[in-house]
Amino acid sequence: MASALVILLSAFSLAQASSDFTCETYTVPLKNISAPSFKLSFEIKTQFDINDWTFNEARRDSSTAFNGIAGPSTTVGDFDISARFCTPLKATKLAQTVLVMTHGVGADKTYWDPTLIGGEQYSLVQAALARGHSIFHYDRLGTGQSTKADPHTVVQFPIQVEILASLTRLLLAPSSPYTLNTTITSAFHLGHSFGAYITAAFGPLYPELTQGISLSGYSGLFDWFNILIAGWQSRVAAQLDPARWGSLQSGYVTPVDIYADAYLDFKSPFFDHAVAEWVTSAKSPYAIAELATLGQTSYNTSSFTKPVQVFQGRYDLSACGGNCDGVLNRTALLWKNASPLDITGSFPAGHMVNLHHNASIAFAAMLDFVGENVQGTK
Ligand SMILES: *[C@@H]1O[C@H](CO)[C@@H](O)[C@H](O)[C@H]1NC(C)=O
Ligand SMILES: *[C@@H]1O[C@H](CO)[C@@H](O)[C@H](O)[C@H]1NC(C)=O
Ligand SMILES: *[C@@H]1O[C@H](CO)[C@@H](O)[C@H](O)[C@H]1NC(C)=O
Ligand SMILES: *[C@@H]1O[C@H](CO)[C@@H](O)[C@H](O)[C@H]1NC(C)=O
Ligand SMILES: *[C@@H]1O[C@H](CO)[C@@H](O)[C@H](O)[C@H]1NC(C)=O
Repeated sequence: MASALVILLSAFSLAQASSDFTCETYTVPLKNISAPSFKLSFEIKTQFDINDWTFNEARRDSSTAFNGIAGPSTTVGDFDISARFCTPLKATKLAQTVLVMTHGVGADKTYWDPTLIGGEQYSLVQAALARGHSIFHYDRLGTGQSTKADPHTVVQFPIQVEILASLTRLLLAPSSPYTLNTTITSAFHLGHSFGAYITAAFGPLYPELTQGISLSGYSGLFDWFNILIAGWQSRVAAQLDPARWGSLQSGYVTPVDIYADAYLDFKSPFFDHAVAEWVTSAKSPYAIAELATLGQTSYNTSSFTKPVQVFQGRYDLSACGGNCDGVLNRTALLWKNASPLDITGSFPAGHMVNLHHNASIAFAAMLDFVGENVQGTK
């Protein structure tokens, strides 16, 4: 009888669930979200414009010779955010903690649950569900199925932080329409790359909304930004591939080809080429103002006293300049009051940690940290 019920349940929810968990993908309409923003000193209309921006950002004296920021402003807007919530069918107290995942530049929410064949081994979503947690992942503003707002004036760093806070409040609200009727009592935040910077800013600003944070593709240091920008050779997406991206405004740009994508994301021999091909097939162009405004606002990471994990691929290009050895001790100084602080820099991978070989080892480390630091579930 019991097994017949399980079979019935899994057949019933086949469209969007495995037999172990159930998911719903929906659009969250956010209204009147406001944040500080910046006026930019440049505008991207043509391939020569983005080429010159690349030069200016990559030149050796970029920090003094080029200032992309012309002055302060504010942004207010309504945005549709495409998101997905999943929860285990066999609910335990652990399911009351939702893991909120924010992806990086060039990706969308599928970074956390890759849609390629055999992608389960690279899915932190599925690893978290197997541990009993609920999960939430979303397309950041300007990516995937979410609103493609103005890539110069609107899609900037600070508004992404406010969007993460708004989404978290909605998940924690009593009778939330976004949790498949699962009662959510706490949230733990995970971020990759640009999503890690957003999460790192969100934690100190809104500590009451999180139990702790886990960051990957992140060091908190910008020393090697220029080798990323130079290697990417970004292009105006609508002009590079009109069939795919023709509807995007010219301020949405993307690395020139699959090898430029992989240059940032992967390190040989620790990945499969088919996975890099999937990343390029699934990629979202990025809004130029996102990178231009990263690091322009300071957040007091020292004020954050909750759990912080930094889990790094040893060969991360943008975060560590291709080698994290001897780098992450500076990251530790940024989070000096985090308790506990857990920093790992030896995992054999490049920037997209989750998509390298042995990702299950990385997931175990991340989820162990979550499990050890979520209160009230033990
Ligand atoms: C929008 O939010 C601001 C505060 O951020 C508030 O003053 C204003 O009344 C809100 N507008 C609407 C239409 O809700
Ligand atoms: C959640 O509960 C409401 C009210 O009981 C019900 O109408 C709705 O179908 C439920 N949704 C899901 C996904 O179970
Ligand atoms: C940051 O937070 C720490 C710890 O609360 C505090 O001592 C320090 O003064 C703060 N720094 C700034 C710039 O506000
Ligand atoms: C970090 O470690 C490196 C290599 O051991 C060392 O050269 C550097 O001084 C250390 N930096 C800090 C801030 O401790
Ligand atoms: C990682 O994966 C490779 C290839 O599958 C395997 O040979 C290696 O032993 C694994 N390393 C660890 C630490 O598990």
